[in-house]
Amino acid sequence: MAEKNERKIRVWDLPVRLFHWTLVILMVVSYFTARAGGEWMKFHFWSGYAILTLVLFRIAWGFIGSTTARFADFVRGPAAAIGHLRDLLGSGRPREAGHNPLGGAMVVALLLAVLLQASAGLFSADTDMGTVNGPLALLVADKWIERATAFHKFWINVLLWMVALHVLAAIIYLVWKRQNLIGAMLTGRKPFDDVVPPGKPAPVLVFVSNRLAVSLLLAAAAIVYFIVRVGG
Ligand code: HEM
Repeated sequence: MAEKNERKIRVWDLPVRLFHWTLVILMVVSYFTARAGGEWMKFHFWSGYAILTLVLFRIAWGFIGSTTARFADFVRGPAAAIGHLRDLLGSGRPREAGHNPLGGAMVVALLLAVLLQASAGLFSADTDMGTVNGPLALLVADKWIERATAFHKFWINVLLWMVALHVLAAIIYLVWKRQNLIGAMLTGRKPFDDVVPPGKPAPVLVFVSNRLAVSLLLAAAAIVYFIVRVGG
């Protein structure tokens, strides 16, 4: 049996990995605290603010972060996405340091969908639970509170389907293409053979300092803090 070349290459920086798995944990917290209601809504709110902070951070990191974190690295046209789909469905081996063109589109969609969900929450109110208001709900007319609340309750279903598709894609990669993208999102490293064809040089990836990421995260937290304070 031919030995697989297990030489690995660093592809994801720490901020992207921490962002991803913290987001996953917070989404679970948000979901179950909303279902529990009552006293748990306090934690639902905090979790929502943290998600908002993370997504704002990630958007900024998409412009000034490490190579594979940048939107410019993975937002590509439909031709690239179709070419990738052909590789994925055929016998070809997709090779990518960061997000592939299809995955990249999904990443943007997920970020926007999460941002929409958390933003709608700021304007939502739930009278079933003894009037629990999002921090900005009292700043807008009742009809907007109703719309935001209805959207917040509906959109979570869309988001869950998107997440299911996202996880399914990662499983397809694992089972069908024998590429462990999940492990790479944990460790930050991919086997050389998953990144470039044999004999080709490693791509040049720039990794930006974690300190800049912490500064951006604090700036994002400050923005969310002010937004929440506006509602008093
Ligand atoms: C609430 C659930 C989830 C959300 C909202 C979510 C969202 C995201 C986002 C926004 C990214 C892009 C990361 C970045 O560039 O910063 C991403 C990447 C990724 N996620 Fe998730 N994710 C979720 C759950 C999961 C789970 C449960 C798994 C594993 C089973 C997973 C596996 C991955 C992998 C492997 C990547 C990298 C894909 C690639 O190599 O292009 N995600 N996810």
